Amino acid sequence: MRVAVTGPGGRLGRALMASLADAPFTGPGGPIGWGRPDYDLDDPAAAARLVERDRPELVIHAAAWTDTEGCARDPALAMRRNGHAVGELARACASAGADLVVLSTNEVFDGRRSDGRAYATDDEPAPLNPYGASKLAGERAAAEAWRAARRGSSLAIVRTTWLYGPPGNDFPSKLLAAAERSAQANEPLRAVNDEIGSPSYAPDVAEAIVAAAGEDGPFSLGRIEHIVNGGVASRADWARELLRQSGIAIPIEEVPVATWPRASTPPLWGVLAPTRPLRSWQAALADYVPILLRQRAAAAR
Ligand SMILES: NC(=O)c1ccc[n+]([C@@H]2O[C@H](COP(=O)([O-])OP(=O)(O)OC[C@H]3O[C@@H](n4cnc5c(N)ncnc54)[C@H](OP(=O)(O)O)[C@@H]3O)[C@@H](O)[C@H]2O)c1
Repeated sequence: MRVAVTGPGGRLGRALMASLADAPFTGPGGPIGWGRPDYDLDDPAAAARLVERDRPELVIHAAAWTDTEGCARDPALAMRRNGHAVGELARACASAGADLVVLSTNEVFDGRRSDGRAYATDDEPAPLNPYGASKLAGERAAAEAWRAARRGSSLAIVRTTWLYGPPGNDFPSKLLAAAERSAQANEPLRAVNDEIGSPSYAPDVAEAIVAAAGEDGPFSLGRIEHIVNGGVASRADWARELLRQSGIAIPIEEVPVATWPRASTPPLWGVLAPTRPLRSWQAALADYVPILLRQRAAAAR
């Protein structure tokens, strides 16, 4: 199967490329990465050009403008990159008969739910910020392209939350750096206790998508999937577990998210009901901590 991945250098994109390279169904050539400059979310013709050039049977769309603060400052550009660009890719895939997986986010929901129930795939989205609005526009543009094309190929929307993993520059790596600064200043580490989600390890999410894509028969992902590691945590819970697994003893001071004013308002309850069981977020984190600690030791040398 010829499989193309957009954003192959991103956190999830690189994990998808690795999982696909190991998958038997991608053949000896492995997956095709559609990165910049060939694939640019700002170029309305890019998707059609690449679909025509490479004739993929499956496209996994992991490219996005994920800078939520940038999206809040420029909602029109967010809509261009995370909304319109998905429509263009979906129309190109639908008319060529290629399957498409579009990555999306818990931020399509406002996170105001207070009944402790995880968001299900059939809950009505209501984004709170321009990033979430642009990602929801992307979901809807893809669905509209499929409705209009009425062809036999499959479309799946895969929502995930709180992604972390190589190459770093993620919550765990920033938190370890902050812990070091706090230790030097002899102060507790401040961590947010009212933002709740499911930390999700990019390699686990990638593997689940690739496993589904490789199952026998037709492309077997559902219309909307929620793919996240198991369990629920506040940012402070995540920080505490990370420090414990890293062997760093430093007190944590729990603070509300409003402590740090931001351009984008994050949904406080970002919990998605998983459609495929993955291991717990703590077990996944344990695979990443040694990688992070090695990276930090190498950087300190
Ligand atoms: N990060 C999270 O916590 C999170 C949570 C839920 C859902 N998601 C969704 O999961 C997907 C993957 O996220 P991620 O964390 O892997 O994102 P990421 O690490 O920020 O990677 C984004 C990718 O998109 C590419 N990209 C950005 N702007 C582009 C442009 N104008 N033209 C072409 N490519 C562009 C980047 O290319 P370069 O490498 O060239 O910069 C990069 O490869 C996205 O759909 C995101 O919305 C993420």
